[in-house]
Amino acid sequence: MPYKILKKEVLAPRIKLMEIEAPYVARAARPGQFIVLRIHEQGERIPITIGKADKERGTLTIAFQEVGKTTYHLGTLEAGDELLDVVGPLGKPSEIDNFGTVVAVGGGIGVPLLYPIVKALKEAGNRIIMIEGARSAELLVLEDWFRPLVDELRITTDDGSRGRKGFVSDELRDILESGEKVDRVIAVGPAIMMKVVSELTRPYGIPTIVSLNSIMVDGTGMCGACRVEVDGKTMFACVDGPEMDGHKVDFDLLMKRLDAYKALEKESLDLFLKTKEIRNA
Ligand code: FAD
Ligand code: FES
Ligand code: MG
Repeated sequence: MPYKILKKEVLAPRIKLMEIEAPYVARAARPGQFIVLRIHEQGERIPITIGKADKERGTLTIAFQEVGKTTYHLGTLEAGDELLDVVGPLGKPSEIDNFGTVVAVGGGIGVPLLYPIVKALKEAGNRIIMIEGARSAELLVLEDWFRPLVDELRITTDDGSRGRKGFVSDELRDILESGEKVDRVIAVGPAIMMKVVSELTRPYGIPTIVSLNSIMVDGTGMCGACRVEVDGKTMFACVDGPEMDGHKVDFDLLMKRLDAYKALEKESLDLFLKTKEIRNA
């Protein structure tokens, strides 16, 4: 069954949003879950988070950053085009409860994943402080999704073009040092950001959940591509996660594994960009 793209929006340079028709996935999706999609028969499979799932319309909304061949290719598709496969919902859903005060930390393209989690946590009665960070103001996305939902929205940019100049972790450090009672932290974004956040909360003993972005192929626990070390044990981020206890993840190993195919990925993107005009002609 082909999966039609119903809407496409450019959110920021190299960051796009798409609404995709996928009624079965939309009906079953829960916060924290993701899909694995394939554009065409020869295309690779990539995992993307379910940002919003509209059960009535039977659609999923995703947001993605163009970082390599497949995401660049996805970004060339328009409303009316179709994807070959959308498999999901995959991964364990997020743990939702009334924890008290939750700080949700989103960096870069980790932000869409936080939306369904923050929404469910708010509905469960939590007070939510959200910290959203990006390299610069133009890369801050989906603020309009979060603004009506959270109790406080704090913005940081690396270059100071909006909000506080610095990293999301600087803002989190201030909250922790202010003595404010924080019952849980959820961090989604680049591995290095999740590592720093987990190190910050460790001395306070605040449960810290991270969503691991390891390389995934099948997304169903069969291939082993997504293996990570958590508490000294090998786990598969696709089926045991993607959410894990940030205090127990071996982030250095995760980062090493994420970089394992850099040279091949660059070659593949260069080739794609060279042939793109031909393909789009
Ligand atoms: P490539 O040039 O192939 O790779 C660029 C970098 O992306 C690599 O160095 C590697 O670190 C990573 N990567 C490559 N292939 C994969 C793969 N198969 N699986 C995971 N990472 C890979 N990105 C978004 O923009 N939006 C999302 O909502 C989103 N959700 C994700 C949810 C999960 C559970 C995971 C694991 C990843 C998610 N990602 C998301 C990351 C996204 O899957 C990668 O950016 C994408 O696969 C890169 O593919 P590429 O061919 O464009 O880039
Ligand atoms: Fe294959 Fe997790 S992606 S085992
Ligand atoms: Mg790729």
